[in-house]
Amino acid sequence: MSHVLLVHHAPSPRLRRILEALEKGLAHPELEGIGVESVPALAATDDHVLRADGYVLLTPANFGYMSGALKHFFDRTYYTCEGAVAGRPYALCVHGDNDTTGAVSSVERITTGWGLVAVAPAVELAGETDADTLEAAADAAATVAAHLLA
Ligand SMILES: Cc1cc2nc3c(=O)[nH]c(=O)nc-3n(C[C@H](O)[C@H](O)[C@H](O)COP(=O)(O)O)c2cc1C
Repeated sequence: MSHVLLVHHAPSPRLRRILEALEKGLAHPELEGIGVESVPALAATDDHVLRADGYVLLTPANFGYMSGALKHFFDRTYYTCEGAVAGRPYALCVHGDNDTTGAVSSVERITTGWGLVAVAPAVELAGETDADTLEAAADAAATVAAHLLA
């Protein structure tokens, strides 16, 4: 069975709603057969990364960068996983008040270094979320799982 690792930092009610949307996208009935591990960034380890086949990342924009929690995840896993994860699919979801550009590029520099393949454009959400934006996030997450089924 293939597995998707969802690594998230979701410290606010809105981010938790986005996290639930990502989990819902990965639980779509058509994706039966794909296992999902949903792990907070501060708890995710290189073992989680290495045993997964694809990744979904969720972070708020903080000071024009990814959250410190997601950065700490990459700090702990980057070199131990480098070379082992190239070619695996991933999707990124960033939420901010108004400017998620730096947060997206900070994550993309690292995923590029790992050689991960973005299977959907980064989902950039600002301010209020609604059914459409949550669905866009869910779709991006589901796309990772769909690539593993294909
Ligand atoms: C320390 C801090 C730095 C932040 N920096 C940014 C930022 O650079 N760009 C942005 O769009 N939002 C920024 N925000 C807003 C967060 O991204 C936002 O609070 C988070 O996505 C959760 O959204 P919510 O507060 O609406 O639940 C920042 C928030 C905090 C607490």
